[in-house]
Amino acid sequence: MSLGKIIDNKHNALSKRIDKQKVPEHVAIIMDGNGRWATNKRLPRKYGHKRGVDVLKEILKASKKLGCKVLTVYAFSTENWTRPTEEVDFLINLFSEVLRNEIEEIHEESTKIKFIGDLNPFPETLKKIISSSESLTKNNNKFLLNVCVNYGGRQEIVKVAKELALKSSSGEIKPSEVNEELFNSELLTRGIKDPELLIRTSGEKRISNFLLWQLAYSEIYISDVLWPDFNEFEFLKAIIDYQSRNR
Ligand code: IPE
Ligand code: IPE
Ligand code: MG
Repeated sequence: MSLGKIIDNKHNALSKRIDKQKVPEHVAIIMDGNGRWATNKRLPRKYGHKRGVDVLKEILKASKKLGCKVLTVYAFSTENWTRPTEEVDFLINLFSEVLRNEIEEIHEESTKIKFIGDLNPFPETLKKIISSSESLTKNNNKFLLNVCVNYGGRQEIVKVAKELALKSSSGEIKPSEVNEELFNSELLTRGIKDPELLIRTSGEKRISNFLLWQLAYSEIYISDVLWPDFNEFEFLKAIIDYQSRNR
């Protein structure tokens, strides 16, 4: 049997084990390990980030095929600004380039794209393409892709607290009215169901300031595979593991 055939068989066997009735609606992913992947291959880190984009495309397809409805990915954290300028600039250019190349297909597939985070520090070119992509796809309803950029969970929570404090001091709300529901309604993810599953690649067992409020009850799956080596097969493994949990 050819290697390709063996891989196909393994893949099919895994697909069959998935309970279509228990597919998570919302999956969040910390796409980690791009730098290590490149370094292991004696390549500059940027090659890991480039390859990481192809993997995101594969996982987006796989999650739609499976019947998920929302994918939220961590692309750039508030802490990532401390990386060398060259890497930060490369990532910012990569976001623009990928968005420019992919937005048509995203739209054709009736996928809505949203960027979550503080976009202010980004260059105008990126801000423009983000805003045109969001408005082009805003009425699409088959699938939602949230891309977290310059996102930090603590910053998001502080922003909500500030917002509620302002509303309280202006008399719009009473302090006694502050509850989880009200808090939720001010989050950047308002209106979106919390993720049932969080996947982090490359073995690190941290949340790294990702969706601190929203992940309160999510199942966590850590994969040792570096993000550029992650694929549909590894994604299905995460789903099967999730389905074995008692929720
Ligand atoms: C994740 O991969 C991508 C971003 C944070 C943008 P890393 O760049 O963190 O890769 P490692 O963790 O250094 O291997
Ligand atoms: C988390 O990965 C952020 C993203 C994937 C964008 P990092 O590599 O930045 O996180 P740490 O440094 O391991 O906590
Ligand atoms: Mg990392």
